[in-house]
This record gives sequence, C-alpha cells and structure tokens, in this order.
Amino acid sequence: MDDSRETLKPKAFVTGYPVRHSRSPMIHGYWLKKYGLNGSYEAREVAVDDFPAFIARLKDGSSGFVGGNVTIPHKESAFRLADRPDELSEEIGASNTLWMTDGLLQATNTDGRGFTANLDARRSGWERAERAVILGAGGASRAVIQAVRDRGIGEIHIINRTVARARELADRFGRRVHAHGMDALSEVMTGAALFINTTSLGMDGEATPAIDFRPLAADAIVTDIVYVPLKTPLLTQAEAQGFAIVDGLGMLLHQAVPGFELWFGRHPQVDDELRELIIADMEKHS
Ligand code: ATR
Repeated sequence: MDDSRETLKPKAFVTGYPVRHSRSPMIHGYWLKKYGLNGSYEAREVAVDDFPAFIARLKDGSSGFVGGNVTIPHKESAFRLADRPDELSEEIGASNTLWMTDGLLQATNTDGRGFTANLDARRSGWERAERAVILGAGGASRAVIQAVRDRGIGEIHIINRTVARARELADRFGRRVHAHGMDALSEVMTGAALFINTTSLGMDGEATPAIDFRPLAADAIVTDIVYVPLKTPLLTQAEAQGFAIVDGLGMLLHQAVPGFELWFGRHPQVDDELRELIIADMEKHS
C-alpha cells in the first residue's frame, strides 16, 4: 500500500455479478464511520466478460480504486489476473481481496481467516479438536478446509454427495484431509469435535435432511457457513440434540477485516453493533 491514503480519500469496491445483495458496503461503511476515516467503499456490478477490463483499470490506476473485494463469480478470475497472488490464494485457486502495491496487483483470500476468527471469538479452544468433519466440497469449502488444516487439526474428513469432488480436495489439501461419500457420515462423525456445513443445504430456509449428530464428541461444536437464515435448519437440529452451535454471520464480518486494514490503514473490530446492523438488514429483506 502506498501513502496515497494519507492524503487522498481511498476508494475501495466490492464487485460481483450480481452484487446488489452484498452486505460488504454496509460492513465497511460502518467501520469508516466508526473510525471517522476519510474513504469510501462501493458496490460495482461487473459482468463476467467485463471483468478483465475492470481489473485492467484497477492496475493502471484509472479506476481510482486502491483495491477491493471480489465475490461470485469473479474470485477465480481475480486470482488469475493478479500480479502477486499470495500462497493462500494459490492453493485455493481463488481470491476475494485485492490491493495495489508499487503498481502491482496483490491478491489474497480472507474467507478462511474469517471462518477461524469467528470460531476464535465464539468458542475459543475449538482448534483443540483432533477430528473435524466438513460437509460439502464446493468452492466455499476450500478456504475452510485450508484454514482448519492450517490451525493444526489432525484429521479432516470431507463428506460430499459427489465423492469425486471431495477426493479432488483431499488430494489438493494434503494427507491430513480425507474424502468420503454421504454414507460414511455417521462413521466419520464418531468422536469428532467440530462439524462444519459448507453446502447450500438449508440456505434461505430450504428443507434439510435430518442429521443425527449424536456420534459427535459430547462437547462438539457445529457450525454453518450459511447465514441466511441465521440459525439454519442444520444448526437448529444440532442445538436440539444438545450441541454448541456457531452461526455463519461472523465469518462474513471477520473476512472483511484484512481488506479494510489494507485499504484504509486501520485494523477494525467486529463488534455486536455491527452484527446487529447486519441482522436488522437481513430481517428487513426476509
Ligand atoms: P459453493 O461454491 O457455494 O460451495 P458449489 O460449488 O455449487 O457452491 O457447491 C455446493 C455444495 O453443496 C457441494 O458440496 C454440493 O454437493 P455436490 O458436489 O455433490 O453437488 C452440495 N449440495 C448442494 N445441494 C445439495 C443437496 N441437496 N444434498 C447434498 N449436497 C448438496
């Protein structure tokens, strides 16, 4: 990051297609106001075919942006178009946070840090789990697998309807990561202290199959990266069966922290007021 933010008003973006549902402008807007910073953060809807030109304008400085967030469907292209993607992005093959340094486009992926920071805030000590079960092998699961592995969990079991996709990720993320089909669910859950849903099951209140969480360790944590609704049917089931649950909203809030610091120069706090602001917005649109 150069010193332009000291003198100018740094401008950052979130881009996706569509992007109007993104809550990132609300999150960054809250922090800009809270810390009294001179800067702006805006949503820019960019179609797939226009994305390379958008990135070219970021790189040559003509867009006036210092960086931004990238969401679906541009995360893979952002990674490919960056001059300096970091190791986290390289392994995942996708980036969600961009910034310019010395005329070069840098890229990282903060989803995994968002996931672990949320668990740290809500259930410290979670990383002592020896075994974790991750349901799902889509794009969203990659950062979660990486982050859980990097925090030292010994055994990570991916369960997916399409087992070939789970195998691909097990190969990518190394020997501590194992792949299974849905039929192995109860077996791999036995004694696990962390269960993570990364599938779209239960999103927007859609019906979810019944899951018997009882094979998990008695003190296990069940978490979901879906946050609409806040308490997904899967979390409701786990709670009714006596398990501690952590919702996915915190992941969204915490993944925004590194970008804000890069563009605006201040490490922001995820506080209850921010969480309540987003929940109120979710209720307004439900
Ligand atoms: P994302 O990038 O958001 O993770 P994705 O790549 O489409 O989205 O992945 C969605 C995940 O949800 C996958 O793991 C998918 O399983 P498959 O790989 O077998 O498709 C899982 N998923 C979606 N609907 C499901 C369902 N009804 N039952 C089981 N798994 C489901």
